[in-house]
Amino acid sequence: MSARPIAYLAGIGSGIPAEVMTNHDFAAVGIETSHEWIVERTGIVERRIARGAGESTAGMAATASRIAMERAGVHAGEIDIIVLSTASPDRLLPSTAVDLQAELGASRAAAFDLSAACSGWLYGLTVAEGMIMSGVAETALVVGSEKMSSIIDWSDRATCVLFGDGAGAAILKRSTDGRGILSTYLRSDGTLADLLYRPDGGARRPFDADVLAERGQYVHMAGREVFKHAVRSMADAVDRALDGAQLAASDIDLLIPHQANLRIIDATAKHARMPMDRVYVNVDRYGNTSSASIPIALDEAIAAGRVGKDSTVLMVAFGAGFTWASMVARL
Ligand code: COA
Repeated sequence: MSARPIAYLAGIGSGIPAEVMTNHDFAAVGIETSHEWIVERTGIVERRIARGAGESTAGMAATASRIAMERAGVHAGEIDIIVLSTASPDRLLPSTAVDLQAELGASRAAAFDLSAACSGWLYGLTVAEGMIMSGVAETALVVGSEKMSSIIDWSDRATCVLFGDGAGAAILKRSTDGRGILSTYLRSDGTLADLLYRPDGGARRPFDADVLAERGQYVHMAGREVFKHAVRSMADAVDRALDGAQLAASDIDLLIPHQANLRIIDATAKHARMPMDRVYVNVDRYGNTSSASIPIALDEAIAAGRVGKDSTVLMVAFGAGFTWASMVARL
């Protein structure tokens, strides 16, 4: 901890699909729900759906990455590693990260996917920071990209209203001036894996007619259980990241929680004793974009002038696994 900061976020970008799906649009796809129900339970008003040309998981990642690279002043040939977090890869083999590498022309990079669901971008930053610390890399591209619309069950109203598509990316470089990652905290609990998962379609039970008939290839979730664990784990993660950075909540300019549900965000903010004007919220416009949610929110917060150079942010995530993670960074 004493050697920190090792790496800083030199540029952030996002790749947002063009198509907006509002809560009212569910009726047209045969889902019995209402705008009022979704807003009251989740705070979500609309989400983006990746249907356009080039809006694959790698394609959205490339859009986000190019913006992050331009802002960091980094060209493709300088990138040493690409860590792409996704729960919705374009293909199971090879990784989406190598498709992104090819699209960017980042020919020198070692590219791989990381699977930690909604916590994945913070996991990815931590892995990249470790590679910079060990001297394996100088410059890393860390991406969260999700086409959740391709893995949710559009006949299950309890899950399909929650998620959206998008990507966010950061260039991580060696820190030279005291800015950067001040603390990081990662946890997981695999005993709870079956509360939020895609049961089938992998090696344990590959695709066949039965899997498709049971809709086993889609996301299944025990909503109430997930909610309880999310609130508890994100509160724990807030405390750990602050402790790790030896900071108090009053030192934090902006809390950027994973955008899954406004009630979970409210509970996390309350636990951190952060007033909502120091909490970033965009779940109303994007729904839950899994590992893309924090980088998209950070990108927007910078664009809106909510934070800038030397601001201190606290990012906290929770997702399938369960996984949870937090990070304090000076921008
Ligand atoms: N529209 C209308 N009614 C719906 C609905 C929808 N989209 N989805 C579920 N319902 C119904 C249920 O069928 C149930 O009806 P019943 O009582 O007649 O059986 C009722 O609403 C209550 O369902 P329940 O699942 O208990 O609701 P809830 O208050 O727990 O809210 C969630 C459901 C999913 C919004 C909530 O549990 C949640 O947000 N969980 C966390 C999910 C999450 O964030 N996951 C990702 C973490 S990274």
